[in-house]
Amino acid sequence: MNKKAIVSLVVVAVLAAAAGYLYARRSVVAAPQVAAQSTSAGLAAARGAGAGGSTASLETGRPAGKIITVKAGEAIQSAVAAAQPGDTVQVLPGTYHETVYIDKDDIALVGVIHGADWPTLDGERKRNDAVLYSGNGIRVENLKIVNFKGNAIMGQAGNNFIIRHNWIANAGVYGIFPEFAQNGLIEHNILTGIEDAAIYVGMSDNIHVAHNEVYGNVAGIEVENSRHVIVEHNLAYDNAGGILTFITPGLPIKTTFDVIIRDNFVVANNHKNFGAPGSIVSGVPSGTGVIVMAADDVIIENNVIRDNKNAGIIVADHKSFANITPDPEADPNPDRVSVLWNLFANNGYEPITEIKALMVAALTREGPDLVAVGGGTGNCVLDKGALKTLGLGSWASGCAKTSTADIATYLLDKPAPPRVLKAEDRGKLIYSSVCAGCHAYNVRMIGPPTQVIQAMYAGNPQGIADYIANPTKKREDFPPMPPQGHLSADLRLAVATYMLGVSQPKPPAAAN
Ligand code: HEC
Repeated sequence: MNKKAIVSLVVVAVLAAAAGYLYARRSVVAAPQVAAQSTSAGLAAARGAGAGGSTASLETGRPAGKIITVKAGEAIQSAVAAAQPGDTVQVLPGTYHETVYIDKDDIALVGVIHGADWPTLDGERKRNDAVLYSGNGIRVENLKIVNFKGNAIMGQAGNNFIIRHNWIANAGVYGIFPEFAQNGLIEHNILTGIEDAAIYVGMSDNIHVAHNEVYGNVAGIEVENSRHVIVEHNLAYDNAGGILTFITPGLPIKTTFDVIIRDNFVVANNHKNFGAPGSIVSGVPSGTGVIVMAADDVIIENNVIRDNKNAGIIVADHKSFANITPDPEADPNPDRVSVLWNLFANNGYEPITEIKALMVAALTREGPDLVAVGGGTGNCVLDKGALKTLGLGSWASGCAKTSTADIATYLLDKPAPPRVLKAEDRGKLIYSSVCAGCHAYNVRMIGPPTQVIQAMYAGNPQGIADYIANPTKKREDFPPMPPQGHLSADLRLAVATYMLGVSQPKPPAAAN
C-alpha cells in the first residue's frame, strides 16, 4: 500500500472513531435537525451541552426569548437587529451574501440544516468577514461559511460563548477566532483552507476546544497568549502544523499557560505552508504535529501523533523560531512543559535542515518524535527512552504530574461577568475588525486611505457616520463601499470618531 493510501486509511479510521465518539455523545449534544426544530426551551437546554465537564456556566440564565426566522433572500442582519437578548435568530437553508455583526448580549445565531442543505454564508471572495460579534453569551451554530477573505467567525471581548457545529471552508485568514474572551466552547466544527490558524484562541481565558476537525490549513488549532485552555478530542491532519500553542511577542497580553493538549489525533500535517509571507505561521515548518513556543505549563497527553514529516512535537523558545522579534516584556522560554504518554509513529522522516543538523550532531538517522530547541526549565517527558528525541538535554525523564484525568475542563462554574466595552473601545473594535479590512492608513486598499478620509472629514465624525450608513458612489476608480447600516447610530459615530484619530501604525507588531 502506498503512503497516501495508508494515510487515507488512517484518516478514515480516525474519522470513524471520531464519529463513533460523537454519536456516543449525541445524548447530550442536540443533532442539528433536532436543535432546529426544538422549542426555545430546548435550545436553552442544548446550550450548555457538550464539553468534557459541566458547561452550566455557558447558560445565559435568562428565560429563553423568541425565535426569529430568516429565510433565503432575507438578511440575517435584519433579524439580528430586531433580536433582543435571549432571542434566537434561526437561519433556514439558502445562500446569504452578507457580514453579520452581533453587538448585543445573549443572542443565538443558529442554522437549520435540512439533509445536505446548510444555511450558507458566501463571501464570494470579496467580503472580509462572515460573523463578527462583540456581545457576551453569543452562540453561533450550524452555519456553513465559505469564500471570505478575513475571518469566518470572529469574537472580540465576548465572554461565555459557544461556537459549535459550523462548517468553514476557504474563509480567509482565521476560521474561528475568539479574542479577548473568557469562558467559551468551540466544538464539533470542521474547518479547511484557512491561511493562518483555523481555530485561533487569541488572548483569552478558560476556553475548551473539542471534537473539531481541521485539515488543509496552515495551522490547525492555535492557542496564543491565552490561559487555561484544553484542546481535546480533535482531529488535525494535512495542515502545515497541527496544534500550536504560542506566546506571540508584541501583543498586549504577554503570557500563555495552563494549556492541556490531549486525546487528539495529529496526523500527517505535511501540507505546504501557504501562510502570508512574514507572518509568524509562515515560519511553521510544514510537517510538524505540535509546536509549543514559549508557552508555560503545557501538558501534552494521550495524543496520536504520527506521519508528521518534520517532527512530532517541537518545543521552542522565541529566538529559535523564524519570523519572531522578541518582546522584552514576554518570557521567551517554554517552561514546565510535560510530555506524558502519547502514541508516536513515523514522525520526522523528512525534517527541515535545522533538525537534520541536530540529527547529525546527535549521530542519529532517526527523525524526532520530540525536539526541544533553545531555553526553558522544568520540562519533562514521562519516559524519555521510549521516544526519539533531540535536544532534550535539561529535560527530566519522569514528570511530577502523570495524568490530567483530574482536570475535566477549565470552563468556569459560573458565567464570567460580561465585559462592558466603553464607546471608544467599541469604535476601535469595529474599525479594526470591519473597516481596516478595506481602509489602510496611508496606502490604497479596497477603499481610499484613512489619511485621505481624515483630511476630508476633519472635525466632522458625524459626516462619516452618516456616509457609512448609506454610502454613495464617489470615486470612479473604486468599487462602491458596502453600507454599514447594521451598526447603530451610536456605533457609527464611535467608529467614525476612532477613524479620525487613528495614526500611522507602528512597524508591524509581530502579530500573526
Ligand atoms: C469592503 C470594503 C470596505 C469596508 C469594509 C469599508 N469601506 Fe469605507 N470605503 C470603501 C470604498 C471602496 C470606498 C470608496 C467609495 C467611493 O469612493 O465610491 C470607501 C469610502 C469610505 C469613505 C469616504 C467617503 C467619502 O466621502 O469619500 C469613508 C468615510 C469610509 N469609507 C469609512 C468607512 C468606515 C468607517 C468603515 C467601517 C465601518 C468602512 N469605511 C468600511 C470600502 C470599504
